Amino acid sequence: MFEQTKKPDPAILVIFGATGDLTHRKLMPAICNLIRKGIFPEHFAIVAVARRDKSNEEYRWDVRQSVKKYNRQFNENSWNKLSSHLYYYRKDFDKEDSYASLKDFLAELDKKHSTKGNRIFYLSTLPNHFSPIVNNLKKYKFISRRQKKVNRIIIEKPFGDDLKSARHLNKKLSELFREDEIFRIDHYLGKETVQNLFALRFANRLFSSVWNTQNIDNIQISVTENLGVGTRGGYYDNYGALKDMVQNHLLQILSIVAMEPPISFDTQEIKDEKVRVLKSIRSMSTEQIKENVVFGQYKRGETGVDYTDESGVASDSRTETYVAMRLKINNERWVNTPFYLRTGKSLKRKASEVVIYFKDTEFKVFSEGQKQNVLVIRLQPDEGIYFRFNAKKPGNDFKMQEVSMDFCHDCLFGINTPEAYEKLLMDIFKGDTTLFTRWDEVENSWKIIDPISEYWQNSGRAPEKYKKGTWGPEASNILVSKEKHRWREPL
Ligand code: BG6
Repeated sequence: MFEQTKKPDPAILVIFGATGDLTHRKLMPAICNLIRKGIFPEHFAIVAVARRDKSNEEYRWDVRQSVKKYNRQFNENSWNKLSSHLYYYRKDFDKEDSYASLKDFLAELDKKHSTKGNRIFYLSTLPNHFSPIVNNLKKYKFISRRQKKVNRIIIEKPFGDDLKSARHLNKKLSELFREDEIFRIDHYLGKETVQNLFALRFANRLFSSVWNTQNIDNIQISVTENLGVGTRGGYYDNYGALKDMVQNHLLQILSIVAMEPPISFDTQEIKDEKVRVLKSIRSMSTEQIKENVVFGQYKRGETGVDYTDESGVASDSRTETYVAMRLKINNERWVNTPFYLRTGKSLKRKASEVVIYFKDTEFKVFSEGQKQNVLVIRLQPDEGIYFRFNAKKPGNDFKMQEVSMDFCHDCLFGINTPEAYEKLLMDIFKGDTTLFTRWDEVENSWKIIDPISEYWQNSGRAPEKYKKGTWGPEASNILVSKEKHRWREPL
């Protein structure tokens, strides 16, 4: 776990789908930063594979613009280094021709950059290209097992669009790569504050001793976004919030919040415990899904357009842009604590938070004014943790007032914490899979999501509409009020 001493391996990073948003906004700025910090491998090359016709020079120019725009600290020297190791390779992912010449090109670069035949393949394409690319990597023998070489593959989400397709993709990948060579990205795991959940839970007696159903009333995981689908309507309309966000990011956060303490901080131990949580989530009958899951869709607010008028979206689309749900975990630690999950687009603010509502004291000494203790873990923006508790209000009478202990991440550490993709890329070059999802995590997440998604497909119900710029449909408030709870509004 968190291999701090291991050095990153020299390698050629081959990015399929390298003209896309992810490469421009996240990957290249992250690599440039790692070079600036002097921690990227000395010997590397990056081959950007995409379908558009471009020269090396044109591609480098485009990337330079993006790096300048999205990098917090653009640095000319680091850019020059990146640029001199960056190559554009035009090809259709699904067409077999030119895989052989791509392979030869990589071998040439090995000589130039001393990358020793090590390969890291990054699939940043639409999901329908994953299988054909892997088939061709196999057919053209890109992976050599004869000598000890680095062979790794990175798969962006979504990993399949249901359990069946995820199994199919996994089978394909495992024909060529071992599990420890497959890096299934969930970029939320690269976020500093998500990793901080481990420290908060397992290094603090104060919290570890009360982290259970006897002391915790309810847990809320909210990942809200203010933007709509933007230019991604075509992709999003086929997935919706349930598959785009809950299956991966929200269930990952939930599994870290709810897991048992691992016996050590070892990668597999941590994953074993996370998987146990996913397996313990109570499955729901159709009636229970109806009761416990809300599907919403945004319509125009003061500004903007209805979801169904977004480009790439079907005009009669029932795709949910908002989901809220109540889940229960069947184990001793959590049996009576509801977990509320919600996520949506075009909401009031962008905020990701885990909110822990503690139970009231068993016996109330004070007749009024006492509030439930609340621990809020702010994942983004304004990363930090704060705890609300009761204190005496100054004065002659004994009145209660809620006060906070607040840990503000940036105030203490500055804004220099690595971006999620910097951390994840370094881990990939070091071969550390801790912050990536193991196959059985993906498998068990789909087992939770599939019945809910099938219910929604078959129900024919219209999604609950909510106005852009609000906190989502009223049905979501009704859902939590069933056990007399309320969503906590992000700050
Ligand atoms: C992605 C989803 O995985 O996460 C997007 O596909 C979503 O729809 C994004 O907008 C949110 O990520 P972040 O880091 O901005 O919270």
